[in-house]
Amino acid sequence: MFRNFKQVTMVVFGRGCFNQLEDILSQRRSAPDSGVVFLVDDVFKAGDLYQRLPLHDADQLIWVNVDDEPKTTYVDQLAATVKAQSAQYPQQLPDGVVGIGGGATMDLAKAVALMLTNPGSSTDYQGWDLIKNPAVYHAAVPTLSGTGAEVSRTTVLTGPEKKLGINSDFTVFDQVVLDPEMIAGAPREQRFYTGMDCYIHCIESLTGTYLNSFSQSYGEKALELCREVFLSQGPDQDDKLMMASYFGGMSIAYSQVGVCHAMSYGLSFVLGLHHGIGNCIAFDYLEEFYGPGVREFRRMLDRQEIVLPRNLMADLSEEQIEKMVDVALVLEPLWENALGSDWRREMPRERIRELYLRM
Ligand SMILES: NC(=O)c1ccc[n+]([C@@H]2O[C@H](COP(=O)([O-])OP(=O)(O)OC[C@H]3O[C@@H](n4cnc5c(N)ncnc54)[C@H](O)[C@@H]3O)[C@@H](O)[C@H]2O)c1
Ligand SMILES: [Fe+2]
Repeated sequence: MFRNFKQVTMVVFGRGCFNQLEDILSQRRSAPDSGVVFLVDDVFKAGDLYQRLPLHDADQLIWVNVDDEPKTTYVDQLAATVKAQSAQYPQQLPDGVVGIGGGATMDLAKAVALMLTNPGSSTDYQGWDLIKNPAVYHAAVPTLSGTGAEVSRTTVLTGPEKKLGINSDFTVFDQVVLDPEMIAGAPREQRFYTGMDCYIHCIESLTGTYLNSFSQSYGEKALELCREVFLSQGPDQDDKLMMASYFGGMSIAYSQVGVCHAMSYGLSFVLGLHHGIGNCIAFDYLEEFYGPGVREFRRMLDRQEIVLPRNLMADLSEEQIEKMVDVALVLEPLWENALGSDWRREMPRERIRELYLRM
């Protein structure tokens, strides 16, 4: 069976296109006493973004904090807040949810949009195709590029037991607003770590056993753009990084990520590391799987003058290390993509453990 996958319905790209958000949302607004929910990364409380938000009287503005990666408890709490405030709307639901921020904020927007129309807790839906009802309309404005969260059919959440996405066709955004000016102010290191998420998506997709021409076409273009951004200088770097992220996301939509992502999930779960930096830390130790990719990644590190944290396992308990291995092993499709159907033989717990101990 071939996957029949859902894509983002509407995409606008271009410098300054954020200013079209008012127009775009006006087509969704159902009544003057109904409203749209804006979930905005609280890093933008400083600066002029607030003045640029196309807020109407009945809209809800919620500053979200992503110091920690999105947790199911946070999603449930946000969804409850939005539901309570939406009780005044004619349809008891907002006309839409708009996420403005990096991958974490985009994931929060997806998850909240889903939880407004699906009962229970977001933990109930961590997995594949467990969502029953369509989400409310949801849109994203990325302010960091690399995760591919703007195009993916998942929202990655950390629950009490596991870090696992809510993967479903209903998760996909209805609209994304790709304005390269929105990523221009990102701190240098964060921009690198998030950008490397895209680079690693490409390497894992292009070397994986799930690869097909669809994924390869997007993956190769994304990889070329990553090289232009991180190994050379030139015009339109933000535009290129934004498109690399989009294409990298499209590439893995029809294939899968691999060893680095599986390991990185374990790092995030136990150490609370963010996805981008977790990927970078893990990738540096995966030369035996991704030789040329890892060597090129080190050239990017040098060129961008990034120094990775080391020796992370020093203070960890045996239990914590075992938990990391558990989290990594849950991600079966990632291992299968990387190593083929016989991956369990090649990747016993002990080998994963040894890799972690080097980090
Ligand atoms: N859904 C998916 O398909 C998918 C894929 C990969 C990763 N993710 C998730 O994405 C998250 C990582 O996303 P990310 O790397 O984009 O970073 P992020 O959203 O976690 O943000 C990282 C930091 O950068 C700040 N920030 C964001 N934009 C900024 C800007 N323009 N200027 C200054 N600071 C800014 C944030 O406040 C935060 O402190 C993780 O939670 C990960 O699980 C999701
Ligand atoms: Fe990723």
